[in-house]
Amino acid sequence: MSKVTIHELSKHIGERVEIDGWLYNKRASGKLQFPIVRDGSGYLQCVVSKKEVDEASWNAVDGATQESTVHVVGTVRAHQKEPGVVELGVETFEVRGPAEDYPITPMEHGTAFLMDHRHLWLRSSKQVAVLRIRSEIEQACRDYFYQNGFTLVDAPILTANAAEGMSTLFETDYFGKKAYLSQSGQLYLEPAAAALGKVYCLGPTFRAEKSKTRRHLMEFWMIEPEVAFLEFDGLQELAEDFVEYIVGRAVERCQEELKTLERDVSKLANVRKPFPRITYREAIELLASKGMPAEFGDDIGGDEETVIANSFDRPVIITRYPTAIKAFYMQPDPNDPDVVLGMDMIAPEGYGEIIGGSQRIHDHDLLLERIKQHNLPLEAFQWYLDIRKYGTFPHSGFGMGIERAVAWVSGVHHLRECIPYPRMLNRIYP
Ligand code: 4AD
Ligand code: MG
Repeated sequence: MSKVTIHELSKHIGERVEIDGWLYNKRASGKLQFPIVRDGSGYLQCVVSKKEVDEASWNAVDGATQESTVHVVGTVRAHQKEPGVVELGVETFEVRGPAEDYPITPMEHGTAFLMDHRHLWLRSSKQVAVLRIRSEIEQACRDYFYQNGFTLVDAPILTANAAEGMSTLFETDYFGKKAYLSQSGQLYLEPAAAALGKVYCLGPTFRAEKSKTRRHLMEFWMIEPEVAFLEFDGLQELAEDFVEYIVGRAVERCQEELKTLERDVSKLANVRKPFPRITYREAIELLASKGMPAEFGDDIGGDEETVIANSFDRPVIITRYPTAIKAFYMQPDPNDPDVVLGMDMIAPEGYGEIIGGSQRIHDHDLLLERIKQHNLPLEAFQWYLDIRKYGTFPHSGFGMGIERAVAWVSGVHHLRECIPYPRMLNRIYP
């Protein structure tokens, strides 16, 4: 007799097997009981007939509570009504770890309650589906860059300098000196691009953003490529090729999960390059034409992003933002000095900015001037300036927030369900 996972059962029809899992749900009808067991790999309907099992097994099923650990032995057979589905004709059923009053029942629960029980909520079918899609997307990100000749370079988490502005830094003590949790691996990838050409990192990043929106987490994961000698047009091509690939992978390999989440996948079928591209100036005009007047220099916030996104049937790239509202390291546009060669990619359907990127300043003196203008501590950036001193080169890169991409692909409204343990304003438990 073999111990198998539920996912593999269809290869074992007619065989006696052993299953370890948890009781998901059950129903009964007369002399039959139907416990549904889940083991992390899938869900299995078990059929327990009073005639065919001993009393201990029958009573064990009868008394088993939701989420109790169970051990089941039986014979795998094709489901009588659902083609392609298997069930288990039970021989013995044993409760090995009883669960008392499992707090998450099939009824509706409020968000605060679910978030307090996140460690248990993870077991629910929709949460399982989202985590599978997240895993597929992260794997697809790694595969994309691996297959395209990029080298993985892990960036540090403890840093001595800010990458994305001083206002959202988490500060910590580093043996009597100040250190910060990384906001982005970018600054560390730029030197690595001079060593290895095409590099990327994937890791956690931290922003003390005092904003309570569905699109912001304090700790989120970011995938960031950085490429030597890549300029602004090439950067946009890389971003759209990458997004087309990862969305395609999730749609192809997560069909079950997307069905569980009732995601309208026809909306994802359009994610084909080329993506529409508009400049920031055009975006301002578009907003005005939709009754949302904005002036040059205004930030494009979440509501504005949604209005812009709704004008297109696939992700849209907005380019050439005003210098004043973007990061210190962005290369000025040689044809329009008030704007920088920065880009954001906005997902459709209101999921907001998924990618931010730019060509980087490669002129030493200009970068020095920008560091001073932004009141950044010069000592902490000497190493970053060195890259412009020893064989400088044009280069570009971007960052994509994993949770934003997962929310969009999964059709999940709030980022808090797109990471196993969300860190939000006022929440670090569990
Ligand atoms: O636009 P951002 O701030 O860009 C950077 O950090 C660059 N250094 C990246 C680079 O060029 N290598 O952040 C990039 C992406 C955003 O587009 C968004 O998807 C995500 O990171 N992001 C967040 N996701 C969740 N919660 C937050 N608070 C986020 N802030 C940014
Ligand atoms: Mg951004």
